Amino acid sequence: MATQKISLTRYLIEQERTHGSLPPQLRLLLEVVARSCKSISLSVTKGALGGVLGTTETENIQGEIQKKLDIIANEVLIEANEWGGHLAAMASEEMSGIHLVPNRYPQGEYLLLFDPLDGSSNIDVNVSIGTIFSVLKKPDNSAGVTEDNFLQAGNTQVAAGYCVYGPQTTLVLTVGNGVAMFTLDREQGSFVLTSENVRIPVDTQEFAINMSNMRHWDAPVKRYIDECLQGAEGTRGKDFNMRWIASMVADVHRILTRGGVFLYPWDKREPNKAGKLRLMYEANPMSWLIEQAGGAATNGHERILDIVPTALHQRVSVVLGSKHEVERVTSYHHDNPDGLTPSAT
Ligand code: AHG
Ligand code: MN
Ligand code: MN
Repeated sequence: MATQKISLTRYLIEQERTHGSLPPQLRLLLEVVARSCKSISLSVTKGALGGVLGTTETENIQGEIQKKLDIIANEVLIEANEWGGHLAAMASEEMSGIHLVPNRYPQGEYLLLFDPLDGSSNIDVNVSIGTIFSVLKKPDNSAGVTEDNFLQAGNTQVAAGYCVYGPQTTLVLTVGNGVAMFTLDREQGSFVLTSENVRIPVDTQEFAINMSNMRHWDAPVKRYIDECLQGAEGTRGKDFNMRWIASMVADVHRILTRGGVFLYPWDKREPNKAGKLRLMYEANPMSWLIEQAGGAATNGHERILDIVPTALHQRVSVVLGSKHEVERVTSYHHDNPDGLTPSAT
């Protein structure tokens, strides 16, 4: 008899039965996000034939020129999520303020945050890109919804994940009981469970960082990478390999699959910015996934999930992946208390 395939729907229902931690409204929310990712995946796959490549005339709140797919993906997520009654509001890397659920629809208790299209510089060159999402609960005592309701530390997330659009479309999810991966079965049109209880090895010989920024780094990051580059002859006594895809989803997916350490540290190019990556749309969901798989995530000083945000589009320095390497990078920052990397925001 053929082994039965476990769909995302079945996985979520079984999570609810086994752990009692997945209310129906949250399940609905995750199914809608997955459906949105399926639709974005279709647009990505069409590429030039679907007219989805290239740039628009507009800039987002971060001052970045938007790609057509940044906007398409953002609209797909908004339209799919606003009418189901499961959400109170949404926030996106591509929108300056929060998006309230229109009055004509019922309001739910969840807040959805997303980076609709991660790895924008890779869209036109046919390299893996993705969507990252994070789910919070609206604070119980708040009437209406405000931007302040979103300013919760990552350790309050109730679900987080990403979908990577690569040779396969893979949805990776945590609801706080480990990490599961689902591959899109294009014939059936459904996500099928292909990996459960994902674990990251605590040690690694592979790092991911944009080396072209080396001259701008702070001393602890330079020290760490220098030691990796010295290889077997240096203090680490082993050779390291390097990968940098420039899509966080793809770099994190590799790390969840075979281990590694990812760094996008603060640097001197824009000293007033805490880093490049966004705390609430990128760092928080990825950090929770990594921790759920036995890895670690810090900003060089403290656990990313413990940072209480003060602004929706806040940026952060990111070190995540195999536990022992992240601990090493963090200890180098502690050895260098006068370093320049901002400790929190
Ligand atoms: P986005 O496309 O959502 O703006 O994110 C891009 C991010 C992240 O995915 C990646 O790790 C990093 O930017 C790459 O930055 P560099 O081009 O500076 O290497
Ligand atoms: Mn991104
Ligand atoms: Mn993006």
